[in-house]
Amino acid sequence: MNYLSGFGNEHASEALPGALPQGRNSPQRVPYGLYAEQISGTAFTAPRHANRRSWLYRIRPAALHRPFVPYAGGLFHNRFEEAPPTPNQLRWDPLPLPEAATDFIDGLVTYAGNGSAAALSGIAIHLYAANRDMQGRYFYSADSELLIVPQQGRLHLATELGVLELEPQEIALIPRGIRFRVALPDGAARGYVCENFGAHLRIPDLGPIGSNGLANPRDFLAPAASYEDLEGDFELIAKFQGNLWRAAIGHSPLDVVAWHGNHVPYKYDLRRFNTIGSISYDHPDPSIFLVLTSPSDSPGVGNMDFVIFPPRWLVAEDTFRPPWFHRNIASEFMGLIHGVYDAKAGGFAPGGASLHNCMSGHGPDAVSFDKASAADVRKPDHIVDTMAFMFEARAVIRPAAQALESPLLQQDYHECWQGLRKNFEPARP
Ligand SMILES: [Fe+2]
Repeated sequence: MNYLSGFGNEHASEALPGALPQGRNSPQRVPYGLYAEQISGTAFTAPRHANRRSWLYRIRPAALHRPFVPYAGGLFHNRFEEAPPTPNQLRWDPLPLPEAATDFIDGLVTYAGNGSAAALSGIAIHLYAANRDMQGRYFYSADSELLIVPQQGRLHLATELGVLELEPQEIALIPRGIRFRVALPDGAARGYVCENFGAHLRIPDLGPIGSNGLANPRDFLAPAASYEDLEGDFELIAKFQGNLWRAAIGHSPLDVVAWHGNHVPYKYDLRRFNTIGSISYDHPDPSIFLVLTSPSDSPGVGNMDFVIFPPRWLVAEDTFRPPWFHRNIASEFMGLIHGVYDAKAGGFAPGGASLHNCMSGHGPDAVSFDKASAADVRKPDHIVDTMAFMFEARAVIRPAAQALESPLLQQDYHECWQGLRKNFEPARP
């Protein structure tokens, strides 16, 4: 498997020698009889540092397919307005693997979201559970960039620009509009998808951290060009303005022989994250764990932030070491990819999810609080075997009605805090 390294780079790749035109983007005749096609992911006139576009040299242009008709997408949609959002803390058990044959697209279940594709702002959060390759069908989202977070089972992501092989604890970023097909090398797969309707995700500025740290650019891998030259009765599924559409297509749209540009898919191994924390007292705000951010129009305020809680050493002295109790203006949707999350003694399983919306109080459960309050903080703690993450948004994350009515929603989640005792003793400081 061949990858090109470096987030935001101007990559170039060809699957046949000389397929990529040199010195111009749109020659009168493209080598090998290919068609030239540009895909732009930002406005033509976006500032250079934010500008995203790629040139594709392909067997047939993307225009070539039969008309789209509505596709009943089942549980995968963008309807977050059906139920009033609740201030309650919410937590769900993991999505069970399907029994019927279900591919990646049909296996997507919408949990929550805000904003809309139409407003070019907000996110949608979905979980997937699938047991079958996408057979003769391809997908793209005109609405969103897709952040895919596998929790169980590898994904073989064949995209227009090449193939990404993904395993749990790795993530993939599929730019808006890029067509792809998902196969499941392990036969079954489960995980999380964040649809980002806003500005494309990027690695954050580092401020006083300096020129290295957190997610390092060179660890983001784009695929080398590879193509399918296939004809058949295939199907192209499009997500457009919140709805799914299907079109007959007589060939594989993954027919790009060469390409160059920076509107490209990436994969990134979360285990490569350079985790930074306190070496004196307290721990920093969790923004220190920021992997990717989709900025909003307000400086420093993310439309969506992707944050992870990876293995790390805790060494802060005279400090309550788990996450502190908190209420935030931002809203937090969490998932657990691997192991155990350090602020909860149980109930938050790999593949599960939780949602703590704007100003809803949360934090360690009673068991975790007691344990951390009694811990010897003169000794370092090594948190191992864990990988939790958060999709954080500036706007309230509205649970979909189907997520609120789901039998996976834990009706007793609030009980985890009921054991927090009153310890206050006015006579004893
Ligand atoms: Fe939180």
